Amino acid sequence: MKRILNKETNKYLDKKVKTAGWVDSIRSHGKITFIDLRDVSGILQLVCKADIAKEIRPEWVIEVEGKISKRPNKMINPKLKTGEIELFIDELKVLSEAETIPFSIEGDGYDISEEKRMTHRYIDLRRQRLKRNITDRQKAISFIRSFLEEDGFVEIETPMLTKSTPEGARDFVVPSRLQAGKFYALPQSPQQYKQLLQIAGFEKYFQIARCLRDEDPRGDRQPEHTQLDLEMSFIDQEDVIELIEKLFISLVKKLYPEKKIQETPFPRITYSQAMKKYKTDRPDLRNPPAGGKKDPNLLAFCWVIDFPFFKKTDGDGWTFTHNPFSAPKPEFMDDLLKKKNVKSILTSQYDIVLNGSEVGGGSIRNHQSEALEVVFEIIGYKKQEVKENFGHMLEAFKYGVPPHGGIASGLDRLLAILLGEETIREVIAFPKTGDSRDLMMNAPSEISKTQLKELKIKLWEK
Ligand code: AMO
Repeated sequence: MKRILNKETNKYLDKKVKTAGWVDSIRSHGKITFIDLRDVSGILQLVCKADIAKEIRPEWVIEVEGKISKRPNKMINPKLKTGEIELFIDELKVLSEAETIPFSIEGDGYDISEEKRMTHRYIDLRRQRLKRNITDRQKAISFIRSFLEEDGFVEIETPMLTKSTPEGARDFVVPSRLQAGKFYALPQSPQQYKQLLQIAGFEKYFQIARCLRDEDPRGDRQPEHTQLDLEMSFIDQEDVIELIEKLFISLVKKLYPEKKIQETPFPRITYSQAMKKYKTDRPDLRNPPAGGKKDPNLLAFCWVIDFPFFKKTDGDGWTFTHNPFSAPKPEFMDDLLKKKNVKSILTSQYDIVLNGSEVGGGSIRNHQSEALEVVFEIIGYKKQEVKENFGHMLEAFKYGVPPHGGIASGLDRLLAILLGEETIREVIAFPKTGDSRDLMMNAPSEISKTQLKELKIKLWEK
């Protein structure tokens, strides 16, 4: 007999079926025993004579065959999809025994230490809340993919082993064995590749892209995060804004119909207005504002625009606020080329904020190589440094560059908000801890002397 899912058993009233899963709980009532069997689709109540189940313990993996019957009226459980039926066991096979699990998977689990949850994440993921989060994440990604494909976007994978680029955060580096002494960097984002794909003529690119940054993790920050990354040619800021609003509005309508978007089109606020009025560049525009009672189903999106291009470094120089590849707003191009009024040059950067969290950012890019070179000069790179770091971009810019721009949205943050979670760790299957460790795999870890030797790497004395 072929195994069916618990949720399918409803269709088999008075018939014999085979199901399998984990023992969620066992209740003994004298001569008979009730077992709640859990599989990916939910719970099914099993009934058997006490002696059949006397050895069985919670979290054992079992397979059962038996007839599906209607439960007596007073035993109906309206909370379960299979609450009106039960399976009377004819045959029970133990597929795998289990030790007592290190923590309970009933309830939401917020009260259990993260250290415990992360060390045995695969057990934590048995929890219904996390199952839903991870499943919903896939639904959202699948929705986004279809939406963009229908609009003519092509999903293109870009390398994970790439070149160290100054995108604002520290790079994770990977030593090269074949080019000993040299290092790859893991991508902080596919920024340069997606621009190169525009030069290659793809016009509408997207990717559900893993991005890696050696930063200190916090509630809304992980060393690896996932972006919906996209880039388009022959477009302007309005096109990007329109696309993202349409995408987010239809995503919410389809997958979170209980949620209400406070205002559409999404309001726009300049960086300087935001700083003046809200003292932050990611204002929470939910009404009633913080302090009042917040409606968990209210979504207040807004765009923050007109950011300054440059800011002072700790020393005496300048650095970029977002992305060195952004174009200035057109009215500031002249100042940029003349390196005049650097402080007041505004960039074409736009950020999208949801309930006080930055869930995306992008810009129209600087597609003129002279102007790009000036940006590098302002931030103090020497000619040789520019050549070493960005020579490939400047070279590519010689061969016909379409005007282009794009955006990347932090999917972990977006999903955490849509799912009502406080931290993005709750929507990632295998997140890292606050000090960037994977407690389950015990990563990072030391590597063998042989590996070090192959890489020609000598460790400093501790
Ligand atoms: P940016 O660096 O703003 O832009 O990243 C885009 C979005 O990604 C999310 N994000 C993160 N989420 C979790 N953990 C992190 N460590 C983390 N860092 C960023 C945020 C952010 O808004 N290449 C540009 C995009 C572009 O210009 O097209 C970029 O990466 O939600």
